[in-house]
Amino acid sequence: MQATEPKALDPAGPNTRAITYIRRVQITSGLILFLFVTTHLMNHSLGLWSFEWLEAGRGVFVAFWQSPPMSLVFYGALILHMILALKAVYVRDSLRSISRTEWLQLVLGFSLPPLLAMHLMGTRGAHELNEVVIHYIDTLRVLWHFKPTMGVLQAVALVVVWLHGCIGLHQWFRFRRGYVQWRPYLLVFAVLLPTLALAGYIAAGAEVLARVQLEAAKPSPATAPVTAPVTNPYPSDEDGYDYGPAEPRFSVAELEAIAANMRLGALILLVSALTLRLVRRWRAQQRLGIGVRYDDGREIRIALGTSILDASREHGIDHASVCGGRGRCSTCRVRIAGDPAELPPPSEAELRVLRRVGAAPNVRLACQLHPTSDVAVTLLLPPRADAEAGAPRPGYLQGEEREIAVLFADLRDFTGFSEHRLPYDVVFVLNRYFAEMGHAIEAAGGRIDKFVGDGIMALFGVEAGVETGSRRALAAARGMAAALDRLNQAMAQDLKEPLRIGIGIHAGPAIVGEMGYGEARGMTAIGDTVNTASRLEALTKQHGAQLIVSEATVMAAGVDLSAYPEISLDIRGREEPLGARIVTTAGELPDPGPTT
Ligand code: FES
Repeated sequence: MQATEPKALDPAGPNTRAITYIRRVQITSGLILFLFVTTHLMNHSLGLWSFEWLEAGRGVFVAFWQSPPMSLVFYGALILHMILALKAVYVRDSLRSISRTEWLQLVLGFSLPPLLAMHLMGTRGAHELNEVVIHYIDTLRVLWHFKPTMGVLQAVALVVVWLHGCIGLHQWFRFRRGYVQWRPYLLVFAVLLPTLALAGYIAAGAEVLARVQLEAAKPSPATAPVTAPVTNPYPSDEDGYDYGPAEPRFSVAELEAIAANMRLGALILLVSALTLRLVRRWRAQQRLGIGVRYDDGREIRIALGTSILDASREHGIDHASVCGGRGRCSTCRVRIAGDPAELPPPSEAELRVLRRVGAAPNVRLACQLHPTSDVAVTLLLPPRADAEAGAPRPGYLQGEEREIAVLFADLRDFTGFSEHRLPYDVVFVLNRYFAEMGHAIEAAGGRIDKFVGDGIMALFGVEAGVETGSRRALAAARGMAAALDRLNQAMAQDLKEPLRIGIGIHAGPAIVGEMGYGEARGMTAIGDTVNTASRLEALTKQHGAQLIVSEATVMAAGVDLSAYPEISLDIRGREEPLGARIVTTAGELPDPGPTT
């Protein structure tokens, strides 16, 4: 595949390098925060065993995350992640291009500041501002005894933050090689860890409440800290923990006020981003200058800076976008009419995705393409394309000549059969037949190309080569004949006479590639080899045979069919007549040998 190399940045177009860096920063900051949450939840889950384990885990957690370098990393990641989330809202041309999953991730993400502000101030904030050590028992006492509503909210926050992170990772990983294999294990981890963390949180909270009841029944200095007044969340050293200074610089009320300001600040930032976005869109609407023409004849005008995907969304044109316009899935890809060099060059990230799917040089991701002049596009995938469409694809799908074996099969006299049957019976019998034949073809390593009427076309050796493909085609013919015998026995009551089949096989060069339109688009083959295989199949009727296979196939397969009668036929475009063997009963063919 020849892909367009990145060129110097076009000052009129998007800053492609910046887009790549921003994406990296977003992923890296998200990964750091996910690691933080993962270790935090692991710490929570130790509550299932005992307070001592919980506290010991906290020691390790705090030693790592509150060390000066990791504090810098954590706060940096948190601030950058929030800024980039706001920027993502601001730069979106159309909110309609956001997928449901992405909406869920955004809503979960923006609900985190209000959910976590007080937790952050009550733990890390209190530690930093008051220079005190916050133990698990302090936090649990507040959440389970003094402020149970907040305790419930923290459990909700745990689920929200975990879901937000998991969705983000899923969105990032799902187009990567190997993710499908790892997905079941990751799913188990994604469910197990928060479940254990919640169980640990509940177990530790239950222990705190038990202590409270014990103290209420019989107060003693040993249990005093559990029910100490909430005005002082940092109890004295009587419980054996080191809390630092007895008189905190910031009271609980002051910490709560800071948390309230943080919530307000987050809301103001979000509203500002949405407002600025509206202003930006309004100003862009004033400069509608770029014409976009679709292959079905529709023409629209868009503002400079609008992506093709957003243009489609804004004008109600169905356009696939599995990743919601993040430049990862490739399902939005479009073919550009004219010279692709006249468009802003693709970023490195876009090029990587285009290479992954073996895209031609005139194919671009609609979500990443912000045209600077009039453009004509063809949508390459149906609107409901799924993530599979973005999986790595072999280069030959773009069109390539390959040596392959082609098999055609047809039911004899099926038209007569169908004339005297109810439509339901015809469909039932045909579907049983297709299932049996399809299974035999696939079991032999073939690829079913299409079912047409009662006919079947199958390809062999597209990837494995013509020798293996020819052996596979012969093995498929044997399997089909055997399967037809079984089917005839099983349906003896329903059929006046057994179904009969004719198969033609030929091997040679054919043009293979992805062809068709919309939902009917798929890999197929065209050329003389295909036509000849079809012609051999048609001749089976005249010769009363189940199979006619060309000598070219026999030679490529390396099998000896000299015992079978030979015919030769003139093929248009060939100087020499084509030799072929007539096999009356395909099930009696010799074993063609290895098919792997
Ligand atoms: S929408 Fe996924 S790459 Fe464009």
